[in-house]
Amino acid sequence: MNKVTKIVGISGSLRKASYNTALLRAAAGMMPAGVELTVRTLHGIPLYNGDDEAATGIPQAVSELKGVIAEADGLLLSTPEYNNSMPGVFKNAIDWLSRAEDDSKKVFGGRPAAIMGASPGPFGTILSQNAWLSVLRTLETKPWCGGRLLLSKAQSAFDAQGVLVDESAKKHLREFLEGFAKFVQANR
Ligand code: FNR
Repeated sequence: MNKVTKIVGISGSLRKASYNTALLRAAAGMMPAGVELTVRTLHGIPLYNGDDEAATGIPQAVSELKGVIAEADGLLLSTPEYNNSMPGVFKNAIDWLSRAEDDSKKVFGGRPAAIMGASPGPFGTILSQNAWLSVLRTLETKPWCGGRLLLSKAQSAFDAQGVLVDESAKKHLREFLEGFAKFVQANR
């Protein structure tokens, strides 16, 4: 029997009505056969402080998420864009997840990774996604650059319950996920 391909999707927004979390929920419902997407958020992850790390180690919420990523075949970041870059809360979480240094290879090293994002603006997080590339390279992931998912004008793509209703966005998301899933399966 073929093993299920596991992808963990992390939303970079803490907002209840986050478009980026909603995009991941939509993605989870349209994964190709044999591929599972687990949706995670950043709730519970404190601000990184090297003194806290030295005194009490890695916080529980960080250790738990590290374990989830380490067991996944691929990593999908759904990122908002703040001031033309990634949100600080998201970068902070990835910084924590890259600690302790010895664990970073286990969590990120060689792991297939993709970025997508949603924004009410016209450019669909393109600059934030570009900013993530250097981070993914530094973490020694295997970034997938075979497709792009830049969901612009997100307020009209979702309904009031946060369900993705725009047919063209759904088609694009499905194609993006199929491309990434193939890459994950070829590289796991
Ligand atoms: C934004 N927003 C934003 N949008 C964008 O497309 N480019 C940008 O540079 C910015 N800058 C920005 C800065 C700050 C501080 C905030 C709070 C917001 C708008 C942003 O895309 C919008 O709030 C999204 O709804 C955030 O994503 P979630 O929370 O819906 O996932």
